[in-house]
Amino acid sequence: MIAEEIYDLVLDDLFIRADHLVPGSSVFLKLEGLNPAGSVKLKTAIALVAQAEDSGREFPRTRLIESTSGNLGVALAMVCAAKGYRLTCVTDPNANAQSVRLMQALGAEVVVIDIRDGNGGYLQSRINYIRDRLACEPDTYWLNQYANPAGPQVHRDRTGRSVLDEIGHVDYAFIGAGTTGTLMGCAEYFRQHSPATRIIAVDAVGSVSFGGSPGRRHIPGLGTSRRPEILDERRIDEVVMVPEADAVEMCRMLAEERGLLLGGSSGTVLSAVRAKAKEIPEGSVVVALSPDFGERYLETIYNDSWVADRWPELICSEISEVSQAGA
Ligand SMILES: Cc1ncc(COP(=O)(O)O)c(C=O)c1O
Repeated sequence: MIAEEIYDLVLDDLFIRADHLVPGSSVFLKLEGLNPAGSVKLKTAIALVAQAEDSGREFPRTRLIESTSGNLGVALAMVCAAKGYRLTCVTDPNANAQSVRLMQALGAEVVVIDIRDGNGGYLQSRINYIRDRLACEPDTYWLNQYANPAGPQVHRDRTGRSVLDEIGHVDYAFIGAGTTGTLMGCAEYFRQHSPATRIIAVDAVGSVSFGGSPGRRHIPGLGTSRRPEILDERRIDEVVMVPEADAVEMCRMLAEERGLLLGGSSGTVLSAVRAKAKEIPEGSVVVALSPDFGERYLETIYNDSWVADRWPELICSEISEVSQAGA
């Protein structure tokens, strides 16, 4: 395969089996972290930039601006660098330090907003900052992933399609919800081409997207402190809310037992699969989406002291398992 541009290297046909999570059924984990931007958001970035180009704005005079928890920023920075476009990423203290460094290395301006909004998150504060910039700098264009239909469309045409092309028949699809672009796009594709597939949205406890109570969250990617405009609950069958501690435990278990170093939202999605396993009839085909890998989480999810500060019970239970094994 010879690509013209780095962002052309989207790998949409990579799956790994995780049958042990639902005994008696086939579980396929779609790996979205093996492209050059390292996450599912490369496809979103390509689509959002294409939509901006179609908007009639002049490039490279126009500066693109976006609120991002990390992965979209890295992907946008890659696409914009390759196209010679200026980019500002507005992020918050939950973003991984490594993602911020990647955005900067790829030439983006990074602004970190550390004022919490009324729901305890940062999203509304990030959006307020963007509105101020747009008012002061007219040559700036907001990509607005939470409201831009280009996000769901690209996941309908690429992500959803690739799942059915590769797996053929799917009974259950577990998809994490951040902006809900991946979820909405895949759900639309499944509704059209495999209406019997049960679409299960996975979110983090503390997220308000599906009407839950707001709460403090530590893992970037899934969850919001403000309902995304592109979310349409009619496209999904069920929502599973996962405590962040369960996601961390799942990530650490898969790393140690399968050599699978996944990002936090993958742990969240797989925790939901495990939680629903008893309700899934034997012989079912289950697909779960893994948005990224774990290298960007070495200082958080895979760092004992970071985990012990937030969920001491997780580290204590690991220590007692080790000592019982040694006894
Ligand atoms: C690691 C990770 N997982 C999941 C998501 C959620 O994807 P979406 O915004 O399409 O809902 C994101 C979005 O940034 C992410 O970075």
